[in-house]
Amino acid sequence: MDKQAAKKISEKLRKEIEQHNWRYHVLDSPLISDAEFDTLLLQLQQIEKEYPDLVTADSPTQRVGGQPAAGFAAVTHRVPMLSLDNAFSVDDLGDFVRRARNIEPDAEMEFVVELKVDGLAVSLQYEEGVFVRGATRGDGESGEDISHNLRTVRSIPLRLHKPLTLEVRGEVYMPRASFIKLNEERQEADLPLFANPRNAAAGSLRQLDPKVAASRNLDMFVYGLGFSPHFNPPTHYEALRSLRSLGLRVNPDIVILSDLEEVVSYCERWRRERYSLPYDIDGLVVKINDLALQQLLGTTAKSPRWAIAYKFPAEQKVTRVEAITVQVGRIGTLTPLAELTPVELAGTVVKRASLHNEDILREKDVRIGDYVIIQKAGDIIPEVVEVVKNKRTGEEVPFVMPASCPACGSEVSRLPGEVALRCFNPACPAQILERITHFAARGAMDIEGLGPAAAAQLLEAGLIEDAADIYTLKDKKEDMLTLERKADKSVDNLLASIERSKNQPLWRLLYGLGIRFVGTRTAKLLAENFGSLDEIISATQEQLEAVPEVGPKIAESVRSFFSLESSGRFVDKLRRGGVALSQGRHVAGSKPLHGKTFVLTGTLPSYSREEAAKLIEEAGGSVAGSVSKSTDYVVAGEKAGSKLDKARKLDVAIMDENGLKQLLGI
Ligand code: IVH
Repeated sequence: MDKQAAKKISEKLRKEIEQHNWRYHVLDSPLISDAEFDTLLLQLQQIEKEYPDLVTADSPTQRVGGQPAAGFAAVTHRVPMLSLDNAFSVDDLGDFVRRARNIEPDAEMEFVVELKVDGLAVSLQYEEGVFVRGATRGDGESGEDISHNLRTVRSIPLRLHKPLTLEVRGEVYMPRASFIKLNEERQEADLPLFANPRNAAAGSLRQLDPKVAASRNLDMFVYGLGFSPHFNPPTHYEALRSLRSLGLRVNPDIVILSDLEEVVSYCERWRRERYSLPYDIDGLVVKINDLALQQLLGTTAKSPRWAIAYKFPAEQKVTRVEAITVQVGRIGTLTPLAELTPVELAGTVVKRASLHNEDILREKDVRIGDYVIIQKAGDIIPEVVEVVKNKRTGEEVPFVMPASCPACGSEVSRLPGEVALRCFNPACPAQILERITHFAARGAMDIEGLGPAAAAQLLEAGLIEDAADIYTLKDKKEDMLTLERKADKSVDNLLASIERSKNQPLWRLLYGLGIRFVGTRTAKLLAENFGSLDEIISATQEQLEAVPEVGPKIAESVRSFFSLESSGRFVDKLRRGGVALSQGRHVAGSKPLHGKTFVLTGTLPSYSREEAAKLIEEAGGSVAGSVSKSTDYVVAGEKAGSKLDKARKLDVAIMDENGLKQLLGI
């Protein structure tokens, strides 16, 4: 492809990708599949690889591929980033409303009430519509330049819908589900866990290497303006509306209310319903709508007088530790658990809380019989905050971690540098059970009806010894029917679900194997790069490390997993059971040229017109006879005639055979 064509195509692709990105991440209404999106991105990446000087700052490829920052440069906020005063009660809210009313007693006062999303305040600067810089709040006067990480947040547009120069502010956060998944993966990798989604978001933005933030699924809501002298909406609500129409993501649950009673009842509603949101909020923010009035009210050194945060009380409960048990994980990790007198907390009944490991257990000094304060980390995972020491009677019993595995009796020990005690017996029944349920879990092979209870039943009855044996169950239906609570229908459903799992994508199988450090993300990368399990099994350390994001630790873990004799036997069983162990590349299922119209003209160097058309059609595109406005690409060969002229006139992207080959990935 010549440079002129590359430029035109890359511009077109950039626009198209950002449009789809906005539809997906801001509007929540995608038009194309993820695979189709990936293909567009891949096409752009290929062109930019060939012509690196065509890469623009707002290119969607820059979201992920950025270089690590050398450090965090200081950014001075042209308008200080203040924080908010807190109201902890309805009375406090009433005081705020009255104070505001006193300034302009005759004015019709409107309040905008917004959710107070629990994340990190950031400022985004746009110059002529292009994202140029993003910073943390810091001390309010100046923060740190974290542009490289903010670029990875898909809901932050790299280009606004209009070429405006302005600064906006908002909250970057991590959705609760992503936080849970991240911590699960970290637990598996023996990395320290994040206490809540806010810390996880903050930790992700504080990285020098943007790849970390890119893998963390951060999101953002914009809630106001910063320094923006050329943009003067009359009200805050109007400002938010404009920001939304510029392509920025504004929270949908924002209302205008005009009296205290309404404000209080809206706050109460969200206090009750906060757990129905996919992210954490720690209260609501009440702001005066009229921007002129805001000016009049002004600010104190720390916070504006025109806004207040109504904070929810943190939900904590006191309950009693009835026992401390030890759970054995899939790779033999011993986790102490506090078995609690059940209490309702933040929307669910809590019966147990993880004490994480021996060090934390000791540090918190939790004893059997203690009363403890519990809360949910990030409002989800119950944790013991502290022991209520003044409730101690002296009868409480300190807990000592066992020297042998509670499930199989093998000796347990800590690997150097690790915090957890481990049982190293691969035949440990607790580990086997965990491995089976992991294999069948929704995020892995997704086998419905094969939860812990069913797996334990099958193991106990001797019908299976490991997860691969489930593929022999179809010949053991009679035996299965003798198991307790196994009716004909549920056995049939389970067998059907097992059958279906045989064709799950390779990454699901790979993740399901439970290789240490191989979470879903790594599994996808490995599957994509090697295409089959056998290729992965025979890959060398270097070949594994050549996969993006796979370092020596992961590569070593993969190699040592497949060097085990037991793993070899397991894979053989899968093969005999008819499980698909290979498949094309990750995006193979999608058609890279889906929906694209081509016109061919002139003689191509190596393909006949028919051959080229066939290739395009096989890749999902269509070939038309004449050039029109709806033509996406014209492929021109030697002696191209009027079609080429028309393409130029209509500003349609033109490419040669090489350009076509690139689009086709051949
Ligand atoms: S307005 C000058 N609106 O709460 C006032 N803040 O305690 C600027 N926050 O630093 C803040 N959601 O990180 C505002 N809808 C919202 C918010 C919000 C969350 C955070 C923000 C701020 C902190 C203040």
